[in-house]
Amino acid sequence: MKQYQQKNVSDINLEDYLGEYETPQATAEHMLFDCGRRKESLNGPWHYAVDQYDTCIRQHWFEERYQDKNGFTLPVDYSFDEWPTMNLPCCWNTEKEMFLLYEGSMVFTRTFRFEAAETGSAGTKERVFLKIGAANYLCRVFLNKQYIGMHRGGSTPAYWEITGALQAQNRILIQVDSTRRPEQVPTENTDWFNYGGIYRDIELIRAPDTYIKRFQIALVPDGTFSKIRARVQLSEDRTAGKRPETEPQESFAKLRIPELDICEKIPLKDGFGELVIPAAPELWSPEHPRLYDVFLTCGQDAVSDTVGFREILVRGRDILLNGKPVYLRGISCHEESVAHGKAPTDEERLKTIRLAKELNCNFMRLAHYPHDERMAKLADREGLLLWEEIPVYWAIRFTREETYQDAENQLKELIYRDWNRASVIIWSVGNENADSDERLAFMKRLADCAHAVDETRMVSAACLVSMDRLAIADRLAAYLDIIGLNEYFGWYSPDFDQLPQLFANSDPSKPVIITEFGADAMPGYHGTIRDKGTEEYQAYVYERQAQTLRDIDYVKGTTPWILYDFRCPRRTSAIQGYYNRKGLLSPDQAYQKLAFDVLRKYYQELEISLCRS
Ligand code: GCU
Repeated sequence: MKQYQQKNVSDINLEDYLGEYETPQATAEHMLFDCGRRKESLNGPWHYAVDQYDTCIRQHWFEERYQDKNGFTLPVDYSFDEWPTMNLPCCWNTEKEMFLLYEGSMVFTRTFRFEAAETGSAGTKERVFLKIGAANYLCRVFLNKQYIGMHRGGSTPAYWEITGALQAQNRILIQVDSTRRPEQVPTENTDWFNYGGIYRDIELIRAPDTYIKRFQIALVPDGTFSKIRARVQLSEDRTAGKRPETEPQESFAKLRIPELDICEKIPLKDGFGELVIPAAPELWSPEHPRLYDVFLTCGQDAVSDTVGFREILVRGRDILLNGKPVYLRGISCHEESVAHGKAPTDEERLKTIRLAKELNCNFMRLAHYPHDERMAKLADREGLLLWEEIPVYWAIRFTREETYQDAENQLKELIYRDWNRASVIIWSVGNENADSDERLAFMKRLADCAHAVDETRMVSAACLVSMDRLAIADRLAAYLDIIGLNEYFGWYSPDFDQLPQLFANSDPSKPVIITEFGADAMPGYHGTIRDKGTEEYQAYVYERQAQTLRDIDYVKGTTPWILYDFRCPRRTSAIQGYYNRKGLLSPDQAYQKLAFDVLRKYYQELEISLCRS
């Protein structure tokens, strides 16, 4: 009877089994600057189990209770190290055919050894952080039978301090839940495939007791290209009061940029410091992606980065890169490869960037969520400007404060992560949201947040055409630096003649980027320019769009939808086959559709004409 009662009070009648895991939540405020740090990878084979009913967190599997207090062996529903293994990071959907359409929870676990470093001076000891590059959508971390915390958001990094939980021999367990939900960001309804898993690097990061939490460096955007601003924030001062008077907290950080002969002390007060230094760096641009190695030390901590110095501004209806008007010859892309889902390899990312450059692009829209941090580092190196975006996509729960906090946190995590990337010029706060009062309040708040956190970049969003007025009239535009506009004349809106009328009806006071236009085409499916779904029709749409857009003086860029076809559960017709076919290339990028060359030539002509002007 006793055993039966024990079973009854454990989990089977537990309704709210999630409440105990809501905190602590890893947020943007828990991030630490990790470029140039020593990292120990936990990538590799992890044991896993599909956990459709969340039994792991209902029954506290992570406590590994195999006996009760009387020594009675308890029957358990898991055997961690007998489970099969999966190589992380990855999306489970592309790892096994049976997991392709699985959405829900999976549990991953492995053991690892950890050698603590010698204690530092003054008795201070190192601190250790766990970083997960991204897990979609929720993840909960357990270490040595302790709950460490959770993270919300499917495309941004999470950091937890695990110093006190580490042992020489450790077991880590991570539960990931990829379920789509209306209150999440994005909601349960999107036009892309919902990959699940821990799909970016899993690392241990060591830092001293007081460490460099944030390091931001950029050209001062004052039009003189003659000053560099460095900002430093230290971690909270935990030794205050315990440290001998003779050892005040560090009063400065040291910045070195050898190729600019810069070696400066940045004074710190209460752990914060900022210094503007005269400098004349070679300016970074897509044509001249000049990067500099920068080094920052403070007390026992040392970090580094490789950065480009450039300025991006808006003046009237112009976008100015390093003081000169620039036209953003772009293309949109999702983060996806056929073989690896939302975890493309470095080679696949580099190929995507090089295909964009083959199109004569100087710009890419990384839709609709933050791509891997390596994408911006590759773009820094290869010379490509970037639009980065958070997935405030379609019908978000705009009246729900927790949903706003989720969106704002993802925005801050993205900005803090990529702050030093010269290639990133625009933060986008969303895509195709209906212009309601609630949505305006929600996204104005996000735009204000982006401006407050980063004064060196532009803020935008991909807005909808106001079809009732056939004009660019989204009220959010007033709070953006650049207006993004998605328009599908020739596809969803059949009457092409409305396109020039749209622009004639509009009079924006700031630059506009056409963030989407396009048409579906099944690779290899041919016909006439009247046959929707053929390559000829898609190419015709691109030609008509180019004929109109080239003459609109306030359109200062385009990122047509999209570089290559991508998986999409909403697209079930014969030519789609669960793919969105608006790509200029096939899903594996191996096949170029006719429209690829139309866009390539259009951008080539634009580049030549702008060089002459
Ligand atoms: C929308 C949306 C995209 C979508 C595209 C389409 O504009 O922003 O995410 O894939 O249109 O309908 O193909």
